[in-house]
Amino acid sequence: MTRSDPAAELTREVLDRVAATPDPRLRELLAAAVRHLHAFAREVGLTPDEWLAGVRFLTAVGHMSDERRQEFILLSDTLGMSSLVETIAHPAAGVATEATVLGPFYVPDAPWRAAGDSIAILDPDGVPALVRGRVRGPGGTGLAGAVLDVWQCASNGLYDVQDPAQPRGNMRGRFRADDAGRFTFRTSRPVSYTIPSDGPVGALLRASGRHPWRAAHIHVIVSADGHLPVTTHLFDAADSYLDSDAVFGVRDSLVKEFVTQPDGSTLVEHEFVLRVA
Ligand code: BEZ
Ligand code: FE
Repeated sequence: MTRSDPAAELTREVLDRVAATPDPRLRELLAAAVRHLHAFAREVGLTPDEWLAGVRFLTAVGHMSDERRQEFILLSDTLGMSSLVETIAHPAAGVATEATVLGPFYVPDAPWRAAGDSIAILDPDGVPALVRGRVRGPGGTGLAGAVLDVWQCASNGLYDVQDPAQPRGNMRGRFRADDAGRFTFRTSRPVSYTIPSDGPVGALLRASGRHPWRAAHIHVIVSADGHLPVTTHLFDAADSYLDSDAVFGVRDSLVKEFVTQPDGSTLVEHEFVLRVA
């Protein structure tokens, strides 16, 4: 057989081999991964040294990853993959609340708090914020007993799990909406903060001339019986990183005004809309 294009020939051979994968979805994923990876190498004329540098980079990402620090997720976040996968899974624009990245700082089983309570147990520099609104279904009916699982960093830009000075559960809480789906909780006005940048992902950001800042946000997972939960954020409309969020998490529909009140505190109102399960 004449080998007119050895590179294309090689790709075909690899694809032939993965075609024997018994699980159909794994077969599809593997074949597409091989096709795109090989096409990438061909497109840029990847050299052996460059490929080795890539392997070393991924090895460093692996070494930096454990149950406390997930550098691989950070890599996925900063390359827009986490956001892309969320968008593919929840094409909710216009119908229901848009989803965005979960991030690495979610801790399950946050303390239950009463309506109107504050999650800012220790945040001396925080500007108080009142967050209130409603959780409803697509038809407009308030979802009685909906749950809001809320977390954010303190005003020093650190989550409780990153900061030994904060008590566990600081800036976190679960709230149950009333019979009409209405909720109220207090917190601090969110601040922009930097994602961890002392590892290989930070080095890649610097090499690309990118900053590590996230636009100021409050994280919320909203759930209600019979409806699909949504993992989302509320962003502060006054933030200067909305157009360059390091993890591509901003959605226009999630950007809200924090309105300053006469006493200097702020008020933000939002309606969460869940899809029927
Ligand atoms: C966060 O918002 O908590 C977050 C998301 C992605 C990467 C790092 C932090
Ligand atoms: Fe965050």
